[in-house]
Amino acid sequence: MKTILIFVSTLDGKITKWDNPNVKSWSSKEDQDSFDKLWVNNRLIVLGSKTFNFDPIKPSPDHLLVIMTGQPSNYKKYEVSGQLEFRNDSPKELIKHFEKEGYEVMLVVGGAHIATSFLKEKLIDELWLTIEPKIFGTGINFVIEEKLDINLELISCKSANKQGTLFTKYSIIKR
Ligand SMILES: NC(=O)c1ccc[n+]([C@@H]2O[C@H](COP(=O)([O-])OP(=O)(O)OC[C@H]3O[C@@H](n4cnc5c(N)ncnc54)[C@H](OP(=O)(O)O)[C@@H]3O)[C@@H](O)[C@H]2O)c1
Repeated sequence: MKTILIFVSTLDGKITKWDNPNVKSWSSKEDQDSFDKLWVNNRLIVLGSKTFNFDPIKPSPDHLLVIMTGQPSNYKKYEVSGQLEFRNDSPKELIKHFEKEGYEVMLVVGGAHIATSFLKEKLIDELWLTIEPKIFGTGINFVIEEKLDINLELISCKSANKQGTLFTKYSIIKR
């Protein structure tokens, strides 16, 4: 199974503007359209409980949304089996489980804690990062403050609009 990490960040690596979790308040229309397309075209989507809590996503038969949390029992009221599931699995266990179920692609859509826990175990195959030409100075970085040493290789980079929003794709070098 291919695991793809998706983020939109500023030039200074922020995935939130200061302490505001509403990403759509600053990301470009082009990024939002591209994210919507990704959402439509992928079934298995994984995110952290903090990202979910900011904007609880509605279940849909078109997707299996997996929320990673240490306390799945707190989310019973949201749970819809096969559509919106809350799991207390490690990233490795999660990948193994869904590989067995026959999934070919897993989108990991944040936030920073979840991204870091996958990245540090080298469980991400590609990073698809939109870079907005903005600098916020403070906000959440797309990885948390930990010692990491991850090398990536650029697959593609294209300018999405006049202002210079960049759609980048990197593969993670695992050697
Ligand atoms: N710009 C973007 O593209 C983008 C994308 C996504 C999110 N965001 C922003 O990112 C912020 C949230 O990021 P975040 O880093 O604070 O939270 P997060 O990564 O969304 O969620 C972290 C939480 O997930 C749970 N968890 C379960 N298993 C875990 C594991 N293996 N490793 C780490 N956490 C695990 C823990 O909570 P419990 O166990 O207590 O449930 C943990 O506190 C929001 O402000 C959101 O708007 C931005």
